[in-house]
Amino acid sequence: MIYPDLNVSEKPQSETKRPFLPDIIYGGDYNPEQWSPETWEEDARLMQEAGVNMVSLAIFSWALLEPKPGQYDFGWLDTILDLLNKHGIKVNLATATASPPPWLAKLHPESLPVTKEGVIWWPGGRQQYCPSSPAYRDGAANLVRLIAERYQNHPALAMWHINNEYGCHVAECFCDQSARSFREWLKRRYGSIEALNGAWATAFWSQHYSEWDEINPPRSAPTYANPTQQLDFKRFSSDALLECFLMERQILKEITPDVPVTTNFLGFLKPVNYWQWSKNEDVIALDSYPDPTDEHSIMEAAMTYDLNRSMAAGKPWVIMEQVTSQVNWRPQNVLKRPGQMRLLSYQAVGRGANGIMFFQWRQSRAGAEKYHGAMVPHIGTTNSRVWREVTALGAELNSLSKIKDSSHKNEVAIVFDWESWWALELDSKPSADIKMMDQLKSYYETLFKQNVNIDFVRPDSDLTPYKVVLLPNLYMVSEENARNIESYVAGGGHVVMSFFSGIVNENEHIYLGGYGAPFRKMLGLQVQEFDPYRPGQTNRLCLDQDTDNPEAEGWLFDCNLWSDLIHLEGAETLARYEQDFYKTQPALTRHHFGKGVAYYLGTHAEPAFMDWLLAKVTREAGVTPAPNVPGGVEVTTRRNEDAAYRFFLNHNSHSIEIKLDTPARDVLTNTLYIESFILEGYGVAILTQPPTPGEK
Ligand code: GAL
Repeated sequence: MIYPDLNVSEKPQSETKRPFLPDIIYGGDYNPEQWSPETWEEDARLMQEAGVNMVSLAIFSWALLEPKPGQYDFGWLDTILDLLNKHGIKVNLATATASPPPWLAKLHPESLPVTKEGVIWWPGGRQQYCPSSPAYRDGAANLVRLIAERYQNHPALAMWHINNEYGCHVAECFCDQSARSFREWLKRRYGSIEALNGAWATAFWSQHYSEWDEINPPRSAPTYANPTQQLDFKRFSSDALLECFLMERQILKEITPDVPVTTNFLGFLKPVNYWQWSKNEDVIALDSYPDPTDEHSIMEAAMTYDLNRSMAAGKPWVIMEQVTSQVNWRPQNVLKRPGQMRLLSYQAVGRGANGIMFFQWRQSRAGAEKYHGAMVPHIGTTNSRVWREVTALGAELNSLSKIKDSSHKNEVAIVFDWESWWALELDSKPSADIKMMDQLKSYYETLFKQNVNIDFVRPDSDLTPYKVVLLPNLYMVSEENARNIESYVAGGGHVVMSFFSGIVNENEHIYLGGYGAPFRKMLGLQVQEFDPYRPGQTNRLCLDQDTDNPEAEGWLFDCNLWSDLIHLEGAETLARYEQDFYKTQPALTRHHFGKGVAYYLGTHAEPAFMDWLLAKVTREAGVTPAPNVPGGVEVTTRRNEDAAYRFFLNHNSHSIEIKLDTPARDVLTNTLYIESFILEGYGVAILTQPPTPGEK
């Protein structure tokens, strides 16, 4: 079995020898094996008609490529690749390892995943493999090598698509092999059993280990499993999947060092620490399925796109999958309204994406996804609204090559850390209601509505490019990362940190001497106790002073979930609690530290308060004001050396007038707008700089 190095260094994009990828990618998952060969010719012709320039191929093809162990059939794939090449369509060729064939389970039942309760997950669906299984890894490695060797010089090959949505269905496996691999992982992390006993605090509840093989994954237990054991198992499980990815990557890079590799991410997928993966991707790819019935889904999609652009860090990122019309896996699968598919595609492009792809090209006739929308729907292409929208978008995107090298340059960042998320939501906490995504969104949504564009960063990132850094619930932090944040503020940065931050170290041991101890100097305070609220309980915040706006003094806002009881050590009070025994005590504070400023919010406040607070902080820090547009209009800006491209997206179903400060040209219609323009319902405009003199 191959154990790849988890810290494989990044392969710089500049080493890529031939230009593999279209400027703006357009296409989808292509599953020709579900159709007879007569359909293939038609597919290739229709792809050209739709402006498709790349498709993802063979994602779920292992069972057809290797129908029996060691017996292969690549003939159909050869034909398809040649056909696509003849039609000028590039291929994002999958390694086909996402769903092992049933024979693997028959030969190696131990390769099947096992839940924490000991339930085996059988073939018949997909992704039924234990990530640590040698039989799975060996079988996958063998197939990847054969595919890479066979197609390495094929002219249609543009990119390798490794596996598919790692961790989507099986993120953790609790089988005996996983237990063995977990022990090996722990030996590498701790070196000695005594170091592990210290980190896991096994003096508690008689948990001391004398031998490595006494240790197991946190399987079902009578009560709370050891928190550090749980946390380490989450780290291990994310790493086990990463090892599978790196194992495939290593084979591909050995055979085709210049072909970019990717795997498709799922946004804020809790079990998979994507920060560790992104440095080993040449292209960041995201599958995006916002729920059209959820009013927050537009904001959530934006947040996910910002995360992916931030992970790409200058490399390209693409939407690898979205749906044209409706999915099949929600209780009710509502249609995207006419124009919404285009609008939501431009939402991603506006946030830096250089590709829009769909699941899938042709809608399946049978199988679990037959009711999932596609580029070619069941009705066919004549008389089809979906097809008309698909071809129109393809034509438009194909004309946008000029934006390909542009990206965001943002002044505000949010610190987001997967490990802290895992630790925050382990069991036996002061409140089960503190959820990372809720807290993150309370910040993100506020600035999203203000059209302030945001990057995501890690706690150890260089924060100096940003004027403001937001820290929603950074529960777990190392001393080193706390110093990174502190020195950012000392150097002139502005931070806003909220409650239950800086509480534990990497082993989930509390920092003693007042909660938030690693940030005590920076914040100028100590949290002495915290008071989690009962469901439905609220309190109020009263503004104490606001140097920008003296009239704001006395304004009241609701808060809920939690109160920190704050003891000031240099910070000033900006808002106080209105009720309870800590009435009049500080709830929002500000501390001038070095050349910067640190705000601390000891509770979860209503959106109006967050709106006031973040508008105040961004103004104080000199963040460039966002354009003033009507509600429901999203504005994002991509820039390169030549131009700024400002995307205006109207998420309302009615048209809206947008006023302009300076004349600007819409690159989609080539129309020059002088003072204002009308954006239709679900409409999109991409405006550039004023015209050069002489232009009409
Ligand atoms: C994705 C997956 C695709 C397809 C799609 C349906 O999660 O990668 O294969 O199942 O969902 O929405």
